[in-house]
Amino acid sequence: MLAIEELKDGWMGKAGAKMLLIVKFDQSIKGDGYILKPQSIQAATPVGLLYGAFDYLRRQKVGEDLHVTSNPSYQRRILNHWDNLNGTIERGYAGSSIFWRNEKQAPTVTEADRKLWREYARANASVGINGAVLNNVNASPIILSDDYLNKVKEVADVLRPYGMRVYLSVNFASPMVLGKLATADPLAPGVINWWKDKANEIYKAIPDFGGFLVKANSEGQPGPQDYKRTHVDGANMLADVLQPHGGIVMWRAFVYSASDKDRAKQAYEEFMPFDGRFRDNVIIQVKNGPIDFQPREPFSPLFGAMKKTSVMPEFQITKEYLGENIHLVYLGTLWEEALKSDTYQQGKGSTVARCTDGSLYPQQYTAIAGVANIGLDANWCGSNFDQANWYAYGRLAWDNQLTATQIADEWVKLTFSPDQTTAGDSKWQNGFLKPVTAMMMKSREAMVNYEMPLGLHHIFAADRHYGPGPWYAPKKVRVDWTPPYYHKAGADGIGFDRTSKGTAAVNQYQQTVADEFDNLKTCPEKYLLWFHHLPWTYQVASGRTLWDEICYRYQDGLQSVKEFQKTWDSLRPFVDEQRFEEVQSKLQRQYHDAQVYKDGCLLYFQTFSKMPFPPGCEKPI
Ligand code: GCU
Repeated sequence: MLAIEELKDGWMGKAGAKMLLIVKFDQSIKGDGYILKPQSIQAATPVGLLYGAFDYLRRQKVGEDLHVTSNPSYQRRILNHWDNLNGTIERGYAGSSIFWRNEKQAPTVTEADRKLWREYARANASVGINGAVLNNVNASPIILSDDYLNKVKEVADVLRPYGMRVYLSVNFASPMVLGKLATADPLAPGVINWWKDKANEIYKAIPDFGGFLVKANSEGQPGPQDYKRTHVDGANMLADVLQPHGGIVMWRAFVYSASDKDRAKQAYEEFMPFDGRFRDNVIIQVKNGPIDFQPREPFSPLFGAMKKTSVMPEFQITKEYLGENIHLVYLGTLWEEALKSDTYQQGKGSTVARCTDGSLYPQQYTAIAGVANIGLDANWCGSNFDQANWYAYGRLAWDNQLTATQIADEWVKLTFSPDQTTAGDSKWQNGFLKPVTAMMMKSREAMVNYEMPLGLHHIFAADRHYGPGPWYAPKKVRVDWTPPYYHKAGADGIGFDRTSKGTAAVNQYQQTVADEFDNLKTCPEKYLLWFHHLPWTYQVASGRTLWDEICYRYQDGLQSVKEFQKTWDSLRPFVDEQRFEEVQSKLQRQYHDAQVYKDGCLLYFQTFSKMPFPPGCEKPI
C-alpha cells in the first residue's frame, strides 16, 4: 500500500537509494501537478507527491524519461458509480457494488470493506482520479438519510489519504421523501432550508465533501420543471447551499423524454437558452455524444457552445452499448476522438478538450466524469481488458492530450510484462506488446463496424442494450424507442436526416462544422447515416453502393474479431493460463455475437434494400 504518509527515503529505488520529496510551490506546477527528476519529486501539495511517485514508478517500468513536469488537465477527475443502495449496479458488468449491499437495517462497514476501498483508492490515485460519486444518478433519496451518510463518511475517511473526495448523486425530490415536505420546488423557502441543513450536516461529517451530481427531469426523474421552474432554478439553489462549504453541483445535460422529435437536439435546446445564468460552482455535465454513449457519435453540440457556463465531459467506462464485459473494446480511441473533435467555437483548434479544461473559457472549476466499470469481481472490471478502460480514463482525465496509442502501450507493459527488463525486451515487445496494442487500437472500430457502421446508432431492441434489434420494440413502448426511429430504414434508403432540410440538428453546431456535416460531399463517412438519409444505391467514397458498403463494413468488423482470436491464440507463451483462457473464451463469445449482429442487421435491412449480398460478404448463417 502506498499512501501519502508512506512516502519515505529510498522506497522506490534499490536498497539504500535516496529520493528527495519536496513539497514546495514552483511556477510550473499547477494544482496537484509535479516535477520529476531521477532523484527527486517536487509538488505543491502532498497528493501531488503521491501522483508524482506513481508516475515515477510507471516511467521506471515502461522505460520513459524521468525528467518531466506534469500537470492535470482537469481539477476534478471523477468516477460516477451507478451503484444502487441494494448493491446492484445499473449497467454494471463486474459484480455487485463495492460500496453498498442489500441490508435490512442501517448499512454496515467491515474491515474487509475498508481494505477493499483502500485498494480501490490506491488504484485511482495511481492514475490521478481524485473523486467518486458513490451512488447511481437515478438516485434514491435514502442516500441522504443519517444512516447512509454515516457510511459515506466512512468511505470518505478511507479515500482521503489517497487524495480522493466523495460526491453524491441526489434525488431532487429528497425534501419530500426524506423531509416530508409538501413540495420540492427549488424556490420554496422550506425546501431551500432543508437543503441548507442537509449540506451543513454533510460537511460537518465530511469537511472535504465534493458536491452533488444531479439527474433532473430526465427519464422520469424529478426536477425543477415539475414546479414550472428551470434547470437554472434547480442547479443554482443547490449551488448556493453548497457554496459556503466549497462544494460544486454537477448538473447533467442528459435530458430526454418520450417524443417523436429528434432526441439528439433536446439537450442543446434545453440548456443553451440558460448560458451564462448558472452559478460559478455549477458545472453542466455533458455526455460526449448527443444521444447516449453509442460506439460512435459526433460530439455533443453543447461543447464550446456554452461560452459563459462551466461544462464538463461525461464518458462511459462501463460498456453499456459496447459489448458489456464480454467484447474486447478499448475505449481510449473513442475518448481521444471525442476530446480532439474540433468544435470551431473559438476558431480552428477549439477542441472539446480545450473547451472544457479551462484553456478557452474561464471556468472556476474544471472537471471530467467517467461512469465506472468497477464491482466486486476479483479483477474489478468484469474482464482483464476492461481494466484498460479504467486506466485510460484516468490517464486522459489527467492529461487530455495523451494519445490512445501511448496509453495502450503503457497499460500492456504495466499489466503483462513480468518485470522491468521484459518491458524493454525486444522479443517481448515484438511478440506480445505490438500485437496486443494493435488489437486494442483496432477493437473499437471493429465493434462500430459489426454493430452500427457509417453513423448508424441505437440499433438495439428497445428493452436491451446487448445484441441487435433494429426491428424490435415491445408493445406500447415509447415512440422514440420504436423502430425505425433511429435508423429510418425503408424502401427509399437508410439514415437519419438531421441536415438543414431534415431535423436541422446540424444547425446546433458552429457554422463551419454545421456546413461540413450538412454537405454530403464533406460529411465524414463515419457520421454519414447519423446526419443523412440516403438511397441504398447511393455511391460512397469506396465506389460501392451504400448497401454494399454496409454489408462490407459488417463483414469487416466480424473478420477483425476473427483476427483478434488468431492473435490472442498465438500469444499463449507470454501470458499466464488464467488470463489467457479468460480472454480466449470471451473472444469466442464476441465472435459469435458479432456474427449475430451482422446477420441480424443485414437480414433486416435487406428486407428494405432488396439487394443481394455482395461478393466477399458471407451470407448470413
Ligand atoms: C442510459 C442508461 C441508463 C442511465 C442513463 C443516464 O440511458 O441506459 O441506465 O440511467 O443513460 O445516463 O442517466
